[in-house]
Amino acid sequence: MDIGCNGGDLTLELVQRFRPRSLVGVDIDKTLVKAAVRALARRRAALREAYREAGRLFKSSTSQRPLPPPPPAAVTEAEARAGELAGRATGVTGEASPDEEGGARAAVGAGRAEKAGGLAPGKAGTPGRPLGDRAVRLQRKGLQAELQALRGVRFEVANFLDWGGGRAGEFHAVTCLSVVKWVHINWGDAGLRALLARVADLLAPGGVLVLEPQPWTSYAAAFRKQDMAACEGVHLPQSLKLRPDDIGPELERLGLACVPGGCTPADAAAPGTPANFQRPLLVYQKPLGSAPGGGGGG
Ligand SMILES: C[S@@+](CC[C@H](N)C(=O)[O-])C[C@H]1O[C@@H](n2cnc3c(N)ncnc32)[C@H](O)[C@@H]1O
Repeated sequence: MDIGCNGGDLTLELVQRFRPRSLVGVDIDKTLVKAAVRALARRRAALREAYREAGRLFKSSTSQRPLPPPPPAAVTEAEARAGELAGRATGVTGEASPDEEGGARAAVGAGRAEKAGGLAPGKAGTPGRPLGDRAVRLQRKGLQAELQALRGVRFEVANFLDWGGGRAGEFHAVTCLSVVKWVHINWGDAGLRALLARVADLLAPGGVLVLEPQPWTSYAAAFRKQDMAACEGVHLPQSLKLRPDDIGPELERLGLACVPGGCTPADAAAPGTPANFQRPLLVYQKPLGSAPGGGGGG
């Protein structure tokens, strides 16, 4: 799940990269959730179009190029070598011609040609296909897999602290990026503790939390920039006892363990990363042996 999903950018990126079986994005802001739903629809439409386009490509590439004769049922090394020599003699080889993107023109000695990036193996008696077609098929498979994963995505409007949509131990991964500061400021130390406890409860054994603890200096900046001091119920930084550095120990008290090498400071970002994307990350895991809902420390 993605807590504080905003307009769905991160959520959809997660789908593209990891293809989860299901994924829920929750955000307190209705307008942003509507934007996320629209972004999901756009992504679906773009993938469907890409899928159709890949299909057209596939058809035109197979109809324009004559298929090579079916490869023999089994090609021995010797036959393959002989075929390759014959190919050289006739000028027909398994090498791709420069004008065919990744495609080999013909096959003499299919096994050898496939190793060279030429033909797919092809069952006995069926024509091998040029690699271009193979690439298109792979591309379509990838698009189909992402489309399938998108079917499992939903967005919900909720204050995560009151969200009733998840069961204890249900989630294998939770992301919470650039959110804890807002919860901390709006609901105080108790709100931050409640968020962490809820995440620990929702994680399945072996499940992972990726959380961005916003730096303490950014709390004061939030008040300066957004005139928050005037908002009713907000917690001024000086009234808060917890600090971003307390989040890790708090998660450990809840029974989660820091993933070695997973927690990275902001300055570990790749060189050239824009300043506003140099964000510290904490990666914690619920130990495999723990009870589905229970955090260690309660
Ligand atoms: C700075 S944005 C971060 C968006 C996204 N996670 C990212 O890293 O790009 C913070 C988001 O958290 C949401 N948010 C703040 N408090 C929340 C709460 N209690 N429950 C759910 N969402 C919340 C805000 O509406 C906002 O969309």
